[in-house]
Amino acid sequence: MSRRLLTSLASSSFVSERTERPYQALNEIRSSEHDLTPHMLIHIIPFRQGIPRRNPNPAPTIPRRGAPPQKSRIRGVKQIVVVASGKGGVGKSTVAANLALSLLQTSTLSRPARIGLLDLDIFGPSVPKLMGLENAGDPELSDENKLIPLQNHGVKTMSIGYLLRESCSHFPCLSTYTPNPENDTPVVWRGMMVMKAVQQLLFDVDWTTKTGTTSGSSGTESGSSDLDVLVIDMPPGTGDVQLSLGQLVAVDGAVIVSTPQDVALIDARKGVAMFNKVSIPMIGLLLNMSHFTCDSCTKPHELFGSSAKFEKAAMDLNLEVLGKIPLVPTISDGGDAGRPVMVQSSGEGEEVRQSMRSVGEKVWEWLSGRERADVGTRG
Ligand SMILES: Nc1ncnc2c1ncn2[C@@H]1O[C@H](COP(=O)(O)OP(=O)(O)O)[C@@H](O)[C@H]1O
Ligand SMILES: [Mg+2]
Repeated sequence: MSRRLLTSLASSSFVSERTERPYQALNEIRSSEHDLTPHMLIHIIPFRQGIPRRNPNPAPTIPRRGAPPQKSRIRGVKQIVVVASGKGGVGKSTVAANLALSLLQTSTLSRPARIGLLDLDIFGPSVPKLMGLENAGDPELSDENKLIPLQNHGVKTMSIGYLLRESCSHFPCLSTYTPNPENDTPVVWRGMMVMKAVQQLLFDVDWTTKTGTTSGSSGTESGSSDLDVLVIDMPPGTGDVQLSLGQLVAVDGAVIVSTPQDVALIDARKGVAMFNKVSIPMIGLLLNMSHFTCDSCTKPHELFGSSAKFEKAAMDLNLEVLGKIPLVPTISDGGDAGRPVMVQSSGEGEEVRQSMRSVGEKVWEWLSGRERADVGTRG
């Protein structure tokens, strides 16, 4: 629950604005109150008394030793696809947002697909901007105290970015828990605090869609439908977040994004190896920024390295290349404007849309061939 998120974050570690000294526990906060601004204290004091937990499910934890970690499904979500790479800046978030939209557009379900996008990048959340939700209202809480996703372009989204923005100053927002709630202030959290936030973004969001009330023999019930696919935008690297996701969540498949340079490919290989270790099945690789064709050019230029080399690397890893996305200004302009290329109609982005639609179809095909893992549900 986000109450739990706040309670746990308030009792976890953060860095004092004035001393830059990390606080690690409430006791320390108590003994160092002179370091806290009155604004911060007002919001921390209520948590000392403890807030009753309305959710009977305890916060998930990562087992350290002994029993193997238990993977589970996320309540309200049928299937999960992660978009990852070992490296930052290769286009994971851009691909994740456009993949979510592509899944919406290429679904062959007899009704509109229900697609979600979860931003797990705590230190560099991009989803609010990419999806045009930077200035949307603050997330509300459901009756069960779960965060209700914000929606745009037909996709439900959740991001720590929504809870940290300056405008967001009421419960369940976190801006009052950061030392300086300016927009450009980085999140300065220690590992445990990040892990708590990640676990609660994974398990304390209500992804279901209310489908109205139905009357039956057991009386009148309000119905709700699960999300068909949740796309998760991962942070760069092969660290705690990736490990926890692999240990805690039954992921249906991963798309690894890479640019063609050796430095990106090396990290992409590490990402693949890590997902193999935590038994996350690989759907394939996506080559981003594969080439650039200028207005007056007669042939594309492979600015960052040869596609053939990338394909060879994919073959060595026994992975399919799901698609190639060229370097196109409309992708970055659209991202900055909160209008991903998949919802644009400019001719410049057509090659990208075709490529992403094909990736969407391949991901649907993969998902339809997946057997539901026999694991419990959490959330
Ligand atoms: N194919 C592309 N063409 C043009 N710009 C791109 C492309 N892919 C990504 N970008 C831009 O590159 C930058 C980094 O992308 P982003 O998705 O944030 O990467 P990551 O999530 O891997 O850090 C963004 O400004 C994005 O708009
Ligand atoms: Mg990103």
